[in-house]
Amino acid sequence: KIIPVILSGGVGSRLWPLSREHFPKQCLPLTDTQYSLLQQTVNRTSALDVSAPIIVCNEDHRFLIAQQLQEIGLKDASVVLEPNGRNTAPAIALAALEAQHRQQDDVLLLVLPADHVIRNIKAFESAIAKAVELASNNALVTFGVQPTCSETGYGYIRAGVDFTVVEFVEKPDLATAQQYLESGDYLWNSGMFLFKAKTYLEELSTHRADIFNAVSLAYEQRTEDMDFVRVDTAVFSNCPAESIDYAVMEPTKKAKVVPYAGDWSDIGAWDALYDYADKDDEQNVLLGDVMSEGSSNCLIRSETRLVAAVGVNSLVIVETADAVLVMDKNNAQDVKKIVKRIQAEG
Ligand code: GDD
Ligand code: MG
Repeated sequence: KIIPVILSGGVGSRLWPLSREHFPKQCLPLTDTQYSLLQQTVNRTSALDVSAPIIVCNEDHRFLIAQQLQEIGLKDASVVLEPNGRNTAPAIALAALEAQHRQQDDVLLLVLPADHVIRNIKAFESAIAKAVELASNNALVTFGVQPTCSETGYGYIRAGVDFTVVEFVEKPDLATAQQYLESGDYLWNSGMFLFKAKTYLEELSTHRADIFNAVSLAYEQRTEDMDFVRVDTAVFSNCPAESIDYAVMEPTKKAKVVPYAGDWSDIGAWDALYDYADKDDEQNVLLGDVMSEGSSNCLIRSETRLVAAVGVNSLVIVETADAVLVMDKNNAQDVKKIVKRIQAEG
């Protein structure tokens, strides 16, 4: 059986004012009015032959996450708490150690970010079936997505014959990303992975023994607190922060890539949510108690009050009880600047 590992470390600050430090984006029902992204991620694995998932998250979010798991009827998940995030290489190592503790050494892990949306479940399932075969033979499998632009926030994978990875380049600069896109030889790394707990830990200890050692020690000195696994704060805080992409996927010789042909988005910012969501005849995405008259290409979301938009174009308007965002949709990345100012100015 596969153990789903759900990475729930981020906050998603570009989705302010809906995301907050204490209410991260993966806990929000962004695309689906019923389930949060985290709940959708767990539900997506339920059709596969999987054991209860391991969730790795910040300790500040433990009650929120426990409550969300309870809401979807999940009782036997392990929730591993990080005192502070050290990025994905350590987070996945914690999950791998927890999986080995729970089951046998070569159990397969399906690593899923908690903040992805995928509608095409069939394509997801068939990619996983292929990946299981490769991972059972000790490959570190990534799922590759056809790139549509020269995004620099993603990993790029040059695929060879038989699912081999010729090259894995995390977050290239813009010129390089453009070159990769034009060559047609590269896929985006989707950020989902499948491998044996054992293979991952071996590769991590080969390429980043410092991370492997720190995480092993922090996990050894864990305490179990209700349903939570709490790792040693001082030891884990000394672990270098690095992503799996830089720490393992770039240097390893065991990488394989399975193309994933379905839809996929990591909903990083409001414009990404707009692109992903269903639109009305005027190309608006209207969520909640919203009225539009002669407006087009807008994303408008209301939480607590009626919001009306008249004759505006290409805006994002997000209303919440204590903050309202009005923004040109083309400036979606700049929400981060506002969040920084709020943190600085109090
Ligand atoms: N538990 C835990 N702890 N989770 C974490 C941590 C951490 O310290 N840091 C990040 N995560 C979670 C995030 O919440 C997210 O769900 C996932 O791990 C990936 O982290 P991001 O910070 O969003 O990574 P990225 O978007 O820059 O890059 C990754 O994803 C891209 C696709 O979305 C890479 O894998 C890229 O290669 C990939 O293209
Ligand atoms: Mg991301």
